[in-house]
Amino acid sequence: MKAVVCTGYGAPEVLKLAEVPKPVPKHNEALIKNFATTCHIGDVRVRSFDVPLLQKIPFRLYLGLTKPKRPILGMELAGEVESIGKDVKRFKPGDKVFACTGFVFGAYAEYTCVPEDSKNIKIGMVADKPSNMTYEEAAAGVTTGGITALTGLRKGGIRNGQKIMVYGTSGSVGVFAVQLAKHYGAEVTGVCSTGNLEMVQSLGADNVIDYTCEELSKYGIDYDIVFDAVGKLTASKGKSLLSRSGKSVKVGAEGGVSIDDLYFLKELVENGELKTVIDRTYPLEQIVEAHRYVGKGHKKGHVVITISHQ
Ligand SMILES: NC(=O)c1ccc[n+]([C@@H]2O[C@H](COP(=O)([O-])OP(=O)(O)OC[C@H]3O[C@@H](n4cnc5c(N)ncnc54)[C@H](OP(=O)(O)O)[C@@H]3O)[C@@H](O)[C@H]2O)c1
Repeated sequence: MKAVVCTGYGAPEVLKLAEVPKPVPKHNEALIKNFATTCHIGDVRVRSFDVPLLQKIPFRLYLGLTKPKRPILGMELAGEVESIGKDVKRFKPGDKVFACTGFVFGAYAEYTCVPEDSKNIKIGMVADKPSNMTYEEAAAGVTTGGITALTGLRKGGIRNGQKIMVYGTSGSVGVFAVQLAKHYGAEVTGVCSTGNLEMVQSLGADNVIDYTCEELSKYGIDYDIVFDAVGKLTASKGKSLLSRSGKSVKVGAEGGVSIDDLYFLKELVENGELKTVIDRTYPLEQIVEAHRYVGKGHKKGHVVITISHQ
């Protein structure tokens, strides 16, 4: 099958299109014929080995010393079940699904195996694709940014009527955080740069602040939750915007996720309460260009990679 292989750590050019063996599903896995994946910030970080100094050694040991041990990157996908292992109960060939593959990666390929029974976002989760999304839309973030936004808001103890700031509203996590906060009945202030104000408003934000030229205190300093969805707000700045009992939450890879959470997000998509944002789309053959773009750190929502099957 056709796949993109990461031949080392470095510039986007380390990614090479190659012919590799088609994977065979284990007993608990579904083999998925992928129609779309994404260029996720996690893929860019692994390829470029852009990790915090203290994590460099543990990450090298985990990911591979001189090049990724799992050379096919790609953390999100949408496609059709091609075949299943003997223990798989929830899916059958032909089912339309969306999935994340976590730190197992593997979505930059025509086919990927995903465990049916995983309850751990770090090793992947698969669910039926929302019926009102295309494969491109379904690959774009619900299974990763959406889940991360949901767990972050829950960590902040989100409740109806609260006043919430989502800092970094234009990224993969931010676009879902603002919509989920509205679903829970919060008053939401989104923070982004000038070019994204309109998009963030269209996602339901009650107020928007342009972080390039406006004070973050424009709409008060009495937030119940300040959710830093992009990891760029200093702890002291976040704290200064909170009410006495308010909580500051920084985006992170949260545990405690279940497959029910993914089906909950699917339901919100199908109800029209949650949508994704696609900035650009590239074919798999142009993965280098996609990585170059996402690496600049200014994508709006998601960058989708389409996979054609000859
Ligand atoms: N996506 C996930 O599934 C996930 C899961 C777990 C953890 N994380 C972590 O969460 C962080 C965000 O991930 P992401 O996927 O959402 O990133 P992303 O989509 O690549 O974020 C890009 C967005 O961040 C905005 N941005 C950049 N600098 C900013 C600043 N100083 N203030 C406000 N906004 C800024 C950019 O808009 P402008 O340049 O126009 O401002 C752009 O829209 C990363 O550290 C990632 O490792 C992500």
